Amino acid sequence: MEFIIAPLIISILTGILAAIISITDKIVNNYGEITISINNGKKEIKIDGGENLLTTLSSKEIYLPSACGGRGSCGACKCKVTSDVGEYLPTEIPYLTKEEMKENIRLGCQIKLKKDISIEIPDSLFNVKKYEAVVEKIVDVTHDIKEVLFNLGNEEINFTAGMYMQLCIPPYDKIKNETQRAYSISSKPSDKHHIELLIRLVPGGIATTWVHTYLKEGDKVKLIGPFGEFEATPTNSTMICVAGGSGMAPFKSMLYHMYENNINDREIWYFFGARTKKDLFYLEELAELQEKWPNFHFVPALSEPEGEEWKGESGLITDVLDRYLKTIINSGYKEGYLCGSPGMINACNNVMTANGIKLENIYYDKFA
Ligand code: FES
Repeated sequence: MEFIIAPLIISILTGILAAIISITDKIVNNYGEITISINNGKKEIKIDGGENLLTTLSSKEIYLPSACGGRGSCGACKCKVTSDVGEYLPTEIPYLTKEEMKENIRLGCQIKLKKDISIEIPDSLFNVKKYEAVVEKIVDVTHDIKEVLFNLGNEEINFTAGMYMQLCIPPYDKIKNETQRAYSISSKPSDKHHIELLIRLVPGGIATTWVHTYLKEGDKVKLIGPFGEFEATPTNSTMICVAGGSGMAPFKSMLYHMYENNINDREIWYFFGARTKKDLFYLEELAELQEKWPNFHFVPALSEPEGEEWKGESGLITDVLDRYLKTIINSGYKEGYLCGSPGMINACNNVMTANGIKLENIYYDKFA
């Protein structure tokens, strides 16, 4: 009998304790109504305090970028806070540069709202919405990259080629909470009712495992966006673009947008690096685009072409880029556009700056 009574008493006591903690939290941490003033009062939100800034704003349909769902592990939710919200937390510091800290940039998910607050966010964030989409089509473009087309139904989206969306991953298997991950948009801005993403399987990755294992045509998903400032400048300088794998996405969007809108008088060189032939995709589409567009040059390169029938460039994409910058594209004003891992971006930055492209003229979309 005591085997039953003891656990019962413990569970009752635990329940009472949890209730006391919850009531105490509500009484002690009752911050009352607070005001969030955005962009010098352009918008004001009145809401009960106590939650973090990221969650509070999203409850009012203002979305800061977030790739970790507010767990303080992505550093994406930056915004400028112009009122006093206390010292930086140790969880914020690794994601902020000294310059950002001087500018009072904070991580929205780490700011608990205890009193009125003033913030500044880019106006473009007012265009960010949560979309309920249906998966219209999934295509395996390589052994580990899926092209996923989402239909937004009657909703319209306005974005600039190069921007990204956050895909909301519902709980599955042992993953108990919704997760969000950022993916560059690969579709053209002119298609306002669809969003296409290229999603490469990352072994052990929560989002990519879900996409590659569970997501199927007809499924309903949530997307938040558009976000980002990676876009082609409105100049006539030569664009030197470099990507690998799913880094193809923003360039696909930019190239087809530029071609469609006759923005075709500037030279564009697109270097696409892959390990072997099975990692290459869209070769025919891009070769076709090159045929129709004399200023566009597509340079796919394989780092491990051994034993393959391959007539294109071979070697690390940085070496191929270096070769071309020294011999073929060695004059004129140039801008760099990079999409890939931090390592790839740093290596390409070094090659570009060594070949005379100024650091301030190199734009990038860095994978986390
Ligand atoms: S949302 Fe990821 S760090 Fe704030």
